Amino acid sequence: MKPPFVITVDGPAASGKGTIASRLAADHGVQMLDSGLLYRAVGGLLAAEGKDLDDVEAATAVAEGLTVEQLSNPAFRTRAAGELASRVAVHVPVRNALFRLQKSFCLRPEGAVLDGRDMGTVICPEAPAKLFVTARPEVRAERRWKQLTGQGEPVTLEDILEDIRKRDERDGGRAASPMRQADDAVLLDTSEMTIDHAADAARRIVEAARARWERS
Ligand code: C5P
Repeated sequence: MKPPFVITVDGPAASGKGTIASRLAADHGVQMLDSGLLYRAVGGLLAAEGKDLDDVEAATAVAEGLTVEQLSNPAFRTRAAGELASRVAVHVPVRNALFRLQKSFCLRPEGAVLDGRDMGTVICPEAPAKLFVTARPEVRAERRWKQLTGQGEPVTLEDILEDIRKRDERDGGRAASPMRQADDAVLLDTSEMTIDHAADAARRIVEAARARWERS
């Protein structure tokens, strides 16, 4: 039996993948999973308990007890939460604890869009449509800087670029489910694109995958 029409959108921070993923979900009338938010919540809740981010047991307990209601906290959308997320995301038991929830999206009969770092490689390798969205670090830093200063966070462009480089290195270099392009994912470099242009390009890639899936 063919798998549901699931779209995975992986890539580094501020590549445009979040916007692309939510537009694709709206196009297809399906739910979207922002898997980064799960790791942000685990990091944020652990820090709020005053625990060490390298305390694997405590981090795993938080991941195991995570509820959907806890995800709506706006504190998890901040720059600091992104850093906490990438620190707890290196722990294999934390990733294992979050696996089932993520996998359930990939089994929805109506399909879904999954946004993250390892959606196409680990969570849903059977997905019929896979994108790996990226952009040059300088471009991503500028986008993130505009977004954060727009939300009133006082940050410099240099600090954001440094954050991005550090996060790319940690996410791509870790042993547990490192961020990487799946062999069958289409690479979309948005460095020279507006977000509308990038979303259109993504839509075309997904339409082609959908036509192949319908024929299969
Ligand atoms: O995408 P977002 O910036 O919200 O992700 C925050 C962090 O969570 C990433 O830098 C990464 O360390 C971690 N993450 C992950 N696997 C995912 C999604 C996010 O390791 N599928």
